[in-house]
Amino acid sequence: MVKVAVLVSGGGTNLQALLDYDSKNYEIALVVSNRKDAYALQRATLNNIKAVHIAKENFEKNLIDCLKEYNIEVVVLAGFLKILSLSFIEHFENRIINIHPSLIPSFCGKGYYGLKVHEEALKRGVKLTGATVHLVNEIPDGGRILMQKAVEVHDDDTPEVLQKRVMKEAEWVIFPQAVDMLCKEVENENSRLFK
Ligand code: GRF
Repeated sequence: MVKVAVLVSGGGTNLQALLDYDSKNYEIALVVSNRKDAYALQRATLNNIKAVHIAKENFEKNLIDCLKEYNIEVVVLAGFLKILSLSFIEHFENRIINIHPSLIPSFCGKGYYGLKVHEEALKRGVKLTGATVHLVNEIPDGGRILMQKAVEVHDDDTPEVLQKRVMKEAEWVIFPQAVDMLCKEVENENSRLFK
């Protein structure tokens, strides 16, 4: 089992999807939030998973210490609203995974988060939107795409209604699958290294 840390800032429905998935390849060993009041922290505690709030000052240094302490190999961003530095990203090259609520390259990049993504999709009048799971590199939402799933847009959708449909039909479905797939690759690599 690959030990993963899930980084969150909000409600944590994607964390819940990861917890509910019956994975043979990943184990959620740690949940970290930059926001003290993130409900996702409570979800972790309810599932007997170590939940940590890390304050703004020296955030990354403290995060790295925490990841080391729990032997974390893969970092999962699940609604994590803080930008990570280049040195952090390079340190965990190909080991940081994120979910974005659109079909990248549409409606993504700097400033596209939360309801804004769905507002823009409705404004543009797309008939299909969806979710994308990708690796994290130095470009916001620019890393290698691992999985995508399309979702229909309805004529009478509000951003809130569309957000919910994208979560239910796409995010909660592909996110655990993609994390599982990445961790399987990491496990395979580990076993090769130790041969
Ligand atoms: C999701 O829409 C995810 O795609 C985006 O942030 C939102 C987090 O929601 N990155 P939750 O905290 O998992 O409920």
